[in-house]
Amino acid sequence: MERPSWVPAEVDLTRPSAARVYDFYLGGSHNLEVDRRMAREAIELWPDLPAIMQSNRAFMRRAVRYVAEQGIAQFLDIGSGIPTVGNVHEAAQQANPQARVVYVDNDPVAVAHSRAILGGDERTAVVQADLREPEALFEHPSLTATLDLDQPVAVLMVAVLHFVPDADDPWGAVARIAARLVGGSYLVLSHASAEGRPEQAGSHRQLYRRTPTPMTMRSRTEIETLFDGFELVEPGVVWLPLWRPDDPAEAEGQPERTTGYAGVGRKR
Ligand SMILES: C[S@@+](CC[C@H](N)C(=O)[O-])C[C@H]1O[C@@H](n2cnc3c(N)ncnc32)[C@H](O)[C@@H]1O
Repeated sequence: MERPSWVPAEVDLTRPSAARVYDFYLGGSHNLEVDRRMAREAIELWPDLPAIMQSNRAFMRRAVRYVAEQGIAQFLDIGSGIPTVGNVHEAAQQANPQARVVYVDNDPVAVAHSRAILGGDERTAVVQADLREPEALFEHPSLTATLDLDQPVAVLMVAVLHFVPDADDPWGAVARIAARLVGGSYLVLSHASAEGRPEQAGSHRQLYRRTPTPMTMRSRTEIETLFDGFELVEPGVVWLPLWRPDDPAEAEGQPERTTGYAGVGRKR
């Protein structure tokens, strides 16, 4: 198999990656045949998937706008993925042109592509790091040069923590990240849950076993406990389209079909 020029040497071309499969769902071009094959199988089993991913991105943009309106000018987007239309820095800088954003991912394609499209923007930085090792992330020179940790920061963990199994303690990782933030900082989070479409969850989990990051779906209660130490902003942890929709019509229908919970919390 020939290696496309945008694929870093360390990438295994024979295994799908969650970041590149997600890129395919969103209509991007940074994916390989092995990713497209997995994504097509997933969509066949679950035709709502591309719409679910769009709903997740739309939540992310609404949440960024909300926290920017609360005066937040610094964003740390952990598990940021392969940049696509409507990135965090675009939404943030629309609300506040001075907003600074650090993008973090452990996938080399996501990092290489983020660097390529963001090069030259002084108010953004890209860091390759694993959220399970927050100490290394917070010491990274690109992070410390871009964010002032004495001021509030909005940390985004959007559609990423379901790739961290219970054994790796996502609650502990969030707590160690939260410990670095001053009061008044925000946590923006979305997370897959089997509660919306329990009949679909098994086959989906099965497909992600092909990737290096299998999925762990969690209950609403488990997701709420990720916000320990944060005060949940209204309406709390809800299905993606129900989190402060721009137009109430967006939330009509069967919001549980998105099978993703979303919430925003403010650090006490
Ligand atoms: C489904 S994508 C979400 C992208 C973006 N946050 C969004 O919601 O549109 C999940 C991303 O999390 C990244 N990821 C998974 N586990 C991670 C970890 N332990 N540390 C950092 N990033 C991780 C993957 O590489 C992938 O790019």
